[in-house]
Amino acid sequence: MRKILGMAALLCAAVLAGCSGGGEGGQAAAGEDAITVGFSQVGAESEWRTANTRSVKEALVAPDFTLRFSDAQQKQENQIKALRSFIAQGVDVIAFSPVVETGWDTVLREAKAANIPVVLTDRAVNVSDDALYATLIGSDFVEEGRRAARWVIEDSQGKDGPIRIVELQGTVGSAPANDRMRGFKEVIDGDSRFEIVRSQSGDFTRARGKEVMEAFLKAEGDGIDVLFAHNDDMAIGAIQAIEEAGRKPGTDIRIVSIDGVRGAFEAMKAGKLNATVECNPLLGPQLADLIREVHAGREVPKRVMVEEGVFTQDQADAELPNRKY
Ligand code: AHR
Repeated sequence: MRKILGMAALLCAAVLAGCSGGGEGGQAAAGEDAITVGFSQVGAESEWRTANTRSVKEALVAPDFTLRFSDAQQKQENQIKALRSFIAQGVDVIAFSPVVETGWDTVLREAKAANIPVVLTDRAVNVSDDALYATLIGSDFVEEGRRAARWVIEDSQGKDGPIRIVELQGTVGSAPANDRMRGFKEVIDGDSRFEIVRSQSGDFTRARGKEVMEAFLKAEGDGIDVLFAHNDDMAIGAIQAIEEAGRKPGTDIRIVSIDGVRGAFEAMKAGKLNATVECNPLLGPQLADLIREVHAGREVPKRVMVEEGVFTQDQADAELPNRKY
């Protein structure tokens, strides 16, 4: 009897996993008119990404949606394969967060030829014809870079130059890395006290952020005043490297990063991170609305922005309980 019950439980689990498409467990059955969405995610490189995936999976559920979810493990080739497979399956709408900006023209043309509308989430693409996608919902990364630089300038009031900055970039060729670098430089270049002495990619991960910061510290010794990290995860990795080098993160080296994830608020509370610029990953509900509109053939804005702020150490304690990611 126990054996039979065990097998039945296994069977149920397998059926539920298959139904979810996102691998999140059981849900209501998809309705007759459910929109089938193929979603290709960048990967699981950061706290931000985990929250973003959760938000998408929670929003694209039955009975309105059937979700086919694919994780590209930060590789463009995997994303292109996933998009081709969605096209072959004849999904209703494709949504994806592109790992990098370039190299999408061919596969997006294939989607267009198959009459499958494409919604970009979080990151932009650089294509020859903007009609290859319906809309993009995501943050203004250039403005995030500017906000980080404005914080550095405000934090350096009364200090003489040279103020030496190191920069941990996100994934090479990705929209957030390109745009945050541009926005930061645009503002910081206006103040002659600042010099960006090193700038290298840490691929948006804690492990790479730590490794690259170790190399920066080796090369620059005590000559680093400020760290600008393109995301909180790399900043948290770098904080570890700074401590291991016998320096005080947040004090000896002032640190600003981007995202505003819970880990950043904890680091700010501990006095190790000075500020974080918010980048909201909870795009799922807005994405679901956009997909509904696009699928119904209605006009949608080409660009949908997300509202965000900047948080500093003195706000960390009060804000931490309110954080949803
Ligand atoms: O595209 C958004 C960026 O990607 C986030 O800032 C980063 O944490 C993520 O990996």
